[in-house]
Amino acid sequence: MNASPRSTVFSGAQPSGQLTLGNYLGAMRTWVQMQDDYDCIFCVVDLHALTVRQDPAQLRAHIFELTALYLACGIDPARSTIFLQSHVPAHAELAWLLATFTQMGELERMTQFKDKSQQHKHNINAGLFTYPILMAADILLYHTHRVPVGEDQKQHLELARDIAIRFNGLYGPVFRVPEPLIARDGVARVKDLQNPTKKMSKSAESELARVMLLDAPEAILKKFKKAVTDALGVIRYDEEGQPGVANLLNIWCAATGQSREQALAHFSHHQYGKLKVETAEAVNAILQPIRTRFQELNADREMLQTVLASGAEQARRRADAVMEKVLDALGLPVARSRF
Ligand code: TYM
Repeated sequence: MNASPRSTVFSGAQPSGQLTLGNYLGAMRTWVQMQDDYDCIFCVVDLHALTVRQDPAQLRAHIFELTALYLACGIDPARSTIFLQSHVPAHAELAWLLATFTQMGELERMTQFKDKSQQHKHNINAGLFTYPILMAADILLYHTHRVPVGEDQKQHLELARDIAIRFNGLYGPVFRVPEPLIARDGVARVKDLQNPTKKMSKSAESELARVMLLDAPEAILKKFKKAVTDALGVIRYDEEGQPGVANLLNIWCAATGQSREQALAHFSHHQYGKLKVETAEAVNAILQPIRTRFQELNADREMLQTVLASGAEQARRRADAVMEKVLDALGLPVARSRF
């Protein structure tokens, strides 16, 4: 992390159910650490979640749960801006403007669109297709320097950069071109416990495939015990040949703070059972305090509303200042009543 202090950081997660261990290790844990050195903005991206059909009551509950989880993980509203995407209309507004600077071919190349349109064959809506433009708007609205995300978001970030560069090329330096900050090796793509060549995802069919942040200790132990490994019976780090074992080693390292060499020294003469159980214990140790804090925070809806209201006010002010520049650059007269 070598950007100058107080550079702006922006990131977000979708309120589409609980977060997985992959979300936490690949993104949120980094966000918490970045608060000391950066001007951080963390968004609950509710508009993005609408690209798949949602039950309104459940979505509302998930939005507050995700806000409580941000806080439980250590995002501090006194130091960072936490807000709900739909509370700042400039996100949707800028997304429209940026859509006119994005080519169909660019969107067609997005692997997440290809994957999601396979998963949701009955509802391949235009929002699913234009989703990366909304994500570009999220980032560009805050003159963001760094965007800490897991590897699966890399392609979207490259598109956000391309859109910013294209716009600036036509109208002058309106946007800052953001830099991705992909999680470090090993946790950039935490794998599915049942199919360790795929990323761990909220939408995997089997519950055993993913560890959720609020899973009970017994459930975590069960999921790791049932994690798919291989028939070789040796603990080595070989992502290609032994992806299940490599994933467990990566998770153990991330949860204990130990290096890969230390992990191999610790496990190499042992059986998979020990690796599985100790990984479950290490994960449980980092999730236990989050679960406890979450219960309290999630019960206090009034406090969560206050945090989101104050975050929205800060975000709106910053986003509107950038919107004014964008509208002006495009030749759209800025409404006097607006700013
Ligand atoms: P979302 O909600 O799918 O995931 C939130 C964050 O978690 C990371 N992540 C992972 N990291 C490592 N291993 C995994 N298995 C894993 N699964 C998920 C994601 O990379 C992400 O950083 N489009 C985004 C949300 C978004 C956003 C933004 C992010 C909307 N606008 C602007 C950054 C900036 C998404 O759906 O993340």
